[in-house]
Formats: sequence, structure tokens, C-alpha cells
Amino acid sequence: GTACSSAISRALSFKLVAECSTSKARACLITLPKCSVESPVFMPVGTKGTMKGLTSKQLEDIGFQIILGNTYHLGTNPGPELMEKANGLHDFMNWKRSILTDSGGYQMVSLLDLAEITEEGVKFASPYSDDMLLLTPERSIEIQNSIGADIIMQLDDVVASTTEGPRVEEAMHRTIRWLDRCITAHKNMHCQNLFCIVQGGLDMDLRRKCVEEIVKRDTPGIAIGGLSGGEDKQVFWKVVDLCTSLLPKNKPRYLMGVGYAVDLVVCSALGVDMYDCVYPTRTARFGTALVPWGQLRLKQSQYSMDFDPIDKNCPCLTCKTYTRAYLNSIIKQETVACHLLSIHNLTYQKQLMESIRKNIIQNTFPQFVKDFMKEMFPDGN
Ligand code: GUN
Ligand code: ZN
Repeated sequence: GTACSSAISRALSFKLVAECSTSKARACLITLPKCSVESPVFMPVGTKGTMKGLTSKQLEDIGFQIILGNTYHLGTNPGPELMEKANGLHDFMNWKRSILTDSGGYQMVSLLDLAEITEEGVKFASPYSDDMLLLTPERSIEIQNSIGADIIMQLDDVVASTTEGPRVEEAMHRTIRWLDRCITAHKNMHCQNLFCIVQGGLDMDLRRKCVEEIVKRDTPGIAIGGLSGGEDKQVFWKVVDLCTSLLPKNKPRYLMGVGYAVDLVVCSALGVDMYDCVYPTRTARFGTALVPWGQLRLKQSQYSMDFDPIDKNCPCLTCKTYTRAYLNSIIKQETVACHLLSIHNLTYQKQLMESIRKNIIQNTFPQFVKDFMKEMFPDGN
């Protein structure tokens, strides 16, 4: 099985390495059972065997210290029995560094419109059969205990950030009740870190109340949820700013589902330590490469005779080996181009996070932000 086997006294230790003197940005060292993680950090989604996914070896070569494993797929198919037999996800996917799993509910609600939320849990139609499945807080933790990730997430009640009215408040309170059920159900406290999630939509009072309640539960890390789509940027950044101002300084803060370059820079300035997002690999699938000055849509005919690499300053395998013209010519046979663009885009994300961290440590972060913005938005918008 995947019960804890090591005698590690603490599943997480957190060290503040440097703080920016002008913003709330911080560089930290988060030590987990399998691997230390330097933050601010972007965590790629390590989905196995899909077109957009990279192998464990490729993710390791890019330098990632922590990846996201997906509970939604693992919990329904192949299921916890397989994970137990495989001795957990680390061994199963041959990934020796850290893993974080999400609790699954968010994926159901966002991917399957058929999900129904009650106090019991999230009810949804199985994508593999005609069955109805019920994901309770207890079941989510049981699945995540069998997967054995270093960081696991509570089941939360997420509403779209554009939702208004009493449903937002209900979801916030239910998220706290579900947190308590998750804490009770968690069997591997000494080797798996359960993170709680702040909800409350775009309402400052609800966010404040939620932080106040969940901080009392003293989990080893805290996530900010409900902000990964559609909302106005100014409001989104204000909610993040409020949350980080209220959160304890001595614990990692994880902003869920956020991964646009500009958000990584701004939210790091607001004191966020961890991020995840499917954007770099999803956009690769559509033929888009991320660069410091924006994006290259490599399907466009303007690249068919362009013999430069995607980015001459990028150290990735794709940029060292192939031209924009070559990528443009193979982009219709999607799989290979998709892999090459995923390698480039994830290298871009990794390099960006390394620059953010380095500049925080050298106390040059404000100038870095100015230079980043100037290159990304040369016209000032
Ligand atoms: N991924 C992106 N946003 C969220 C969220 O609010 N909750 C969970 N569980 N996962 C997310
Ligand atoms: Zn590259």
C-alpha cells in the first residue's frame, strides 16, 4: 500500500530565504519528503501519456521540482486499487521529486457540466460508464492517500468567479465544513501535507471571513481558489492582495489554476509562492509558443520561411534544435509539434520563475518587474 513508510518527523518545512524590500514578494525553500522546492514555483500538470503531456524524464530535465498529478483521472480510472498495487504515483510514473494532487471536485465541476453539489459531496456522471459517482471529502482524501502525493488538497465547493449572491457565501461556508471532514479523514499526516483552500468569490468580506476560519485549522499550507477564469484582472489581483495580507507569513501560499506570465509576476509581487495551470501545454496544442514579448502563433504563414528558433535566448531542446519554419511545417501532424512546443513553453515558465526568484534574492525584483512589463507590453498596455 501507500501508507507512510519513512520516519520523517515533519512532512513539510518552510524557510523564508529572501523578501523583497518594496513588494510582498518572497523567495522560499519548501522542503517536502521527496524533494526541496524553491519558490516562487510553477507546477506543470504531469498527465501521463496524453498528447500534451511530457514524460517524467523531460519534466525532470527542464528542472521542475514539483508537478501536479490529477486525482480526477486517477480516482475513477484506474482507481485507488491500482495505486496501492503500484506503490503510489511516484513509483508508477517514475517521478522521484515532489507531487501535488488536487482534490478532484473542481475538475468535475469545470469539466463536466453534469456535476451536482450537495452537503454530502460532488455528484457526477462517470465519464467511463452510466454510473453516478459521489465524491465526498472523505473519498477524495482516501484517493489522495492512496496516490501518495507530497501535498494533497481539501475538497472545496467552487463556484465560477462571476457568480453573485447567496451561493458564493454558501460555497465558502461549505468549503470550511468540508475542510474539517478532510482533516478528520486524512490518514498520512506525517508524510502527506493537506492544504486548505480559501474561497469566497470576489467578495472581500467573505474572503476575509474564510481566511480567518481556515487559518485556525493550522494546515501546513494554504491555497487561494476560485480565481482561475474570467474575472476582471484588477479585481482578481485585489482578492489575491487581500488574501496574502491576511495569511500567515510562515506557510506556503498556492494560487490555484493561474499561469499567465503577467499573473505569475504580479501575484509573486503580492506574496504568492506556488502556481499551477494547464495553459502552457494547452496553448502548445494549438500551435502557440510563449516568448518574453508575448506569443508566437506558429501556424501562421509568416513563419513558413522564418529560420530563427522560437526564442534565440531560450535554452530548451526545441530552440536549440529546430527553426520556426520547421515547426510551422510539421504543426499539422500535431503530436510531435505539440511535444516540442510543450517543452519550449514549460521551459519558458521555468525560466520565468527562476528569474523572479533570483531577482527577489538579489533585491532587484522591482527593476525586473519594470523590464518584464516593458518587454511584454511595449505600448504601455
Ligand atoms: N483549480 C483551479 N481553481 C481551483 C479551485 O478553486 N479549487 C480547486 N480544488 N482546484 C482549483
Ligand atoms: Zn525554447
